[in-house]
Amino acid sequence: MDLERILFSQGFGSRRQCRALVADQRVSIAGSPCINPATEITSDTLSSFEFQVDGTTWRYREKAYLVLNKPPGYECSRDPQHHLSVFHLLPPQLPERGVQCVGRLDQDTTGLLLLSDDGAFVHAFTSPKRKVPKVYLATTRHPLDDAQLSALRNGVLLHGESQPIAAVGAKQRDEHVLELSVLEGKYHQVKRMVAAAGNRVEKLHRERIGGFGLPDDLDEGQWRWLDDADLAMLRQS
Ligand code: URA
Repeated sequence: MDLERILFSQGFGSRRQCRALVADQRVSIAGSPCINPATEITSDTLSSFEFQVDGTTWRYREKAYLVLNKPPGYECSRDPQHHLSVFHLLPPQLPERGVQCVGRLDQDTTGLLLLSDDGAFVHAFTSPKRKVPKVYLATTRHPLDDAQLSALRNGVLLHGESQPIAAVGAKQRDEHVLELSVLEGKYHQVKRMVAAAGNRVEKLHRERIGGFGLPDDLDEGQWRWLDDADLAMLRQS
């Protein structure tokens, strides 16, 4: 694949903009400016190919898989109504190449958010048919009690649903802290379930999706690429 196509595939703008980046000597390979957009990178070296744009190093990735520790006050939409978008926390190349959220979190929910431009991956983790457990920590307004926990485990009927929805796990971690695991990804699901059980969510944080937990070293607002081990953990879900 030639350098111009590589830059285009990684989200550095239109083909013309990518050619201009190269012509303006803003692209380097192994530290030296590369001024020929037709420079060929052979397919056997492509998967480890690194290049610099304006001094920042990028590795070629056929597909992008990321984890973001979502802060409060960010919407998962590209076109947010009232807050900033989570896409403001990423380099512009990532939304440009089609990276999207793998399911949505409410603007006030924090924690584990996956993003990708791999449609099959997004579908696998958002399809209602593929029941991937998602673990949330909810801080509640009122103290938790056994009746609420049983209601959540046995199923609560949410407005607009024909069947009760049961949590696959509901544990009390503290007087006001509930660990809730759910298989679905319905609109405001955790908040609505907790309300239906007779309490109210004051704060919500997602800790885990399937076998993959929010990395401890990822501060709020930070993102990183998912590596092969992370993807294997997720795919085991
Ligand atoms: N359930 C909710 O109520 N909100 C979220 O952001 C995620 C799950």
